[in-house]
Amino acid sequence: MRPYTILSCAMSIDGYIDDATGQRLILSGDRDWDHVDELRATSDAILVGANTIRADNPRLRVRSGQRRADRVAKGRPENPLRVTMTTRGLDPEAAFFADDNHVVYTDAPLSKVVEDLYGRGVRRLMVEGGSSVHTEFLAQGLADEIRLAVAPILVGDHRAPRFLNDADFGKDRMVLRGVEQVGDVAVLHLFPDPDRFWLRECIEESRKCPPSDTAFPVGAVIVDAEGQEIARGHSREFDMIGHAEENALSKVDLSDPRLRTATIYSSLEPCSTRKSRPRSCSQWIIEAAIPRMVFALREPSRFVVGEGAELLAGAGIAVVERPDLADEARAVSPLYS
Ligand SMILES: NC(=O)c1ccc[n+]([C@@H]2O[C@H](COP(=O)([O-])OP(=O)(O)OC[C@H]3O[C@@H](n4cnc5c(N)ncnc54)[C@H](OP(=O)(O)O)[C@@H]3O)[C@@H](O)[C@H]2O)c1
Ligand SMILES: [Zn+2]
Repeated sequence: MRPYTILSCAMSIDGYIDDATGQRLILSGDRDWDHVDELRATSDAILVGANTIRADNPRLRVRSGQRRADRVAKGRPENPLRVTMTTRGLDPEAAFFADDNHVVYTDAPLSKVVEDLYGRGVRRLMVEGGSSVHTEFLAQGLADEIRLAVAPILVGDHRAPRFLNDADFGKDRMVLRGVEQVGDVAVLHLFPDPDRFWLRECIEESRKCPPSDTAFPVGAVIVDAEGQEIARGHSREFDMIGHAEENALSKVDLSDPRLRTATIYSSLEPCSTRKSRPRSCSQWIIEAAIPRMVFALREPSRFVVGEGAELLAGAGIAVVERPDLADEARAVSPLYS
C-alpha cells in the first residue's frame, strides 16, 4: 500500500521550473501560493529531492496560522511530515532539519519509500519537486494526481531545469479534470492513470447506493475515447434491484456511436447471471458493443458465482482487472469482507 500522491509544480509557459541563474525564479503569485498552502495543510507529508533543499532551502511548513490551528483541532500535527531522499547527504543547518518532524531516506528505491511512508500513517503525500523526483514518481507509476501551475513567463534558456527530465512515461493521455485561473496562473489538475482515476469515480459513485443486506454497493461510469464521461450509475438508483452498469447504460441511447469506442468502468466485476432480471450486466455491455471493460473487485461468491469477466472476454471485449484498487472498492461496505 502507498499514499495517495499529488505532484505539485509551477512552471513557465516553456516548461521550466527555474532559470539558470543562482537566484530563485518566482513563478507563482500570492493567490497560487495560498492554494498550494491549502494542499499542504490537507497532506500528511511533503516530499522534496535533496537538490531542492540545496537550491531553495524550503521550510515546507503550512504558512497559514488558521490552517495549522485547524489541523491541531483535528488531532493532527501542526505541519505535515517533511520527507527527502539523498545519497550525498545534506547540510544539517537546512530549514528542513529545524525540528524532528522529518524523515530522510538514504538508500531505498522509491517504491519502498512510499510503502514505508504508508506504514508511518501517511495517506496523502504531496511531492514538491524538483525535476528528478517528479520524474521518478511519474515514470514509476507512483503519482495519482498532478497540480501543474503554468505561470505567464518565458524563461527561454535550455540550461534551466524543466518540470520533468527524459524518461519513458508511456504516451497515454492523462485525464484533465479542472482548469482554474488563480491570479495570473493557469492551474491544471491532471490524473496520469486514467483507469485508476475512473475506477475511483466508480468507487465514489458506489457510496450513493441505498443500503442493502443482500446486494453490494456498486458504481459504474462509461467514458468515451477522448476521456469524456458519457454516463454513470449506481446500484438501486431507480429501484431496489437495479445494478450499476445497467443503470448507467439506461441513461444512454444504445445506438450512440461513442459507445463503440468507449470504456465501461465498474467498482465490481459485472454480473453474469441474475435471478431478478432477464439480462445480466455482462449481457447489457455486450449488447451495447462497448469494446473495453475495467473493474476493481472480483465478484465475491457471496450471492452468486461471478463469471462476468470470462463472459465479456469470450465476447471479444478487452477486460482489465485492477486489483490495486480492490481494497478501496471493498472498504465501501462490510458486505465485501
Ligand atoms: N518550480 C517548482 O515548482 C519547483 C519545485 C521544486 C524544485 N524546483 C527546482 O528544481 C531544481 C532541483 O531539481 P533536481 O532535479 O536537480 O533535484 P531534486 O529532484 O530536488 O533532487 C534530486 C536529488 O534527490 C536525491 N534522490 C532522488 N531520488 C533518490 C532516491 N531514490 N534515493 C536517494 N536519493 C534520491 C538525490 O540526491 P543526492 O544528490 O544527495 O544523491 C538527487 O540528486 C531546483 O532548481 C529547484 O529550484 C522547482
Ligand atoms: Zn449486474
